Amino acid sequence: MAFDVAAIREQFPILHQQVHDKPLVYLDNGATTQKPQSVIDAVNHYYTMDNSNVHRGAHALADRATIGFENARKTVQTFLNAQHIEEIIWTRGTTESINIVAQSFGAGFINAGDEIIISAMEHHANIVPWQMLCERSGATLKVIPVSDAGELDMDAFSDMLNSKVKLVSVVHVSNALGTVNPVEQIIEQSHAVGAKVLIDGAQAVAHFEVDVQALDADFYVFSAHKVFGPTGIGCLYGKKALLDQMSPVQGGGEMIEKVSFAGTTYQGLPFKFESGTPNISGVIGFGEALKFVMSLDRKAMLAYEESLLAYAHEKAQQCEGLRVVGTASKKAGVLSFLLDGAHPADVGMLLDQQGVAVRTGHHCAMPIMDQFKIPGTARASFSIYNTKADVDALFTAIEKVKMFL
Ligand code: ALA
Repeated sequence: MAFDVAAIREQFPILHQQVHDKPLVYLDNGATTQKPQSVIDAVNHYYTMDNSNVHRGAHALADRATIGFENARKTVQTFLNAQHIEEIIWTRGTTESINIVAQSFGAGFINAGDEIIISAMEHHANIVPWQMLCERSGATLKVIPVSDAGELDMDAFSDMLNSKVKLVSVVHVSNALGTVNPVEQIIEQSHAVGAKVLIDGAQAVAHFEVDVQALDADFYVFSAHKVFGPTGIGCLYGKKALLDQMSPVQGGGEMIEKVSFAGTTYQGLPFKFESGTPNISGVIGFGEALKFVMSLDRKAMLAYEESLLAYAHEKAQQCEGLRVVGTASKKAGVLSFLLDGAHPADVGMLLDQQGVAVRTGHHCAMPIMDQFKIPGTARASFSIYNTKADVDALFTAIEKVKMFL
């Protein structure tokens, strides 16, 4: 079945507008994806008909809200092929998920003298929580080097592994470079020395299928808003056996079993990590977004996206004065680039004037920008509703930027 991009575009109302009197060409999907009508409708319906608190009320609305909320958890479980539903924990997004692991797994399993491995291409969200944990615990942070093409140095990684390594935390797809990392190999090698592995899947799940059991990931984290869902909601997947051994990081309502001044006992999974009233409408929208993705032919979708990125790379090669940053052999969704003599911020502003939305700057990945000795890039990031016409519009706009600058 061919991938019907026109039918997909019809489902995203926001795409059909003019910006600065030009048709919108939205190429900032790495920052956030747009939402299909089904997600907008689900959130609207929830507030119009079902709004209530979950797991608490003794009335019909509370029942409907709770059923919708827990059905969404089931949808995330299916999406990731997690073995148990209680392995899916709601968080505010990727950043909070990583912080929970850093705090909870960190408190229980990381001691002075231990080592944690990340890579040089990580987002700040997968750097700073580990730096903070190392400061607290006396563990050491080690960094897998990245080549000029933007690929992990897997020989260096192999050499870094030893029995002191307790955790490896790497990005599945780099938000700044688009590199798809060999996470299967990383997980296998890490497990061989007894280390656990967290995969930051924020930029991966909107592009290709992820099966946490096949990967054997210990933790897998992502945000709803980068996979067609609402902002402010995401999930932490963790293996049940591990999460069961981890302590809650926030106390409050929902996460307790019994509270008394003599002592408090906690709920089991997943609730012990979910204190307070959650983002219920966000969860409802999140579930709907994943249902939307799962309704698509994922193989055809991936093939379509790969051909679109290859086309963008071809155009980039033909574009004089344009340098692509991130030329890994396996990439998804991202074309980061620089124009000779132009600051990325100016490039972004001039593209915007022509209706083309990209992100500019360091993309919350300062260390890899420092390594490449650049202040940042302009980044076009693609999604399933982008077309070759969007890529053509980007490069027509880039030619104009070159004339202006
Ligand atoms: N991490 C998001 C990005 O890459 C915000 O743009």
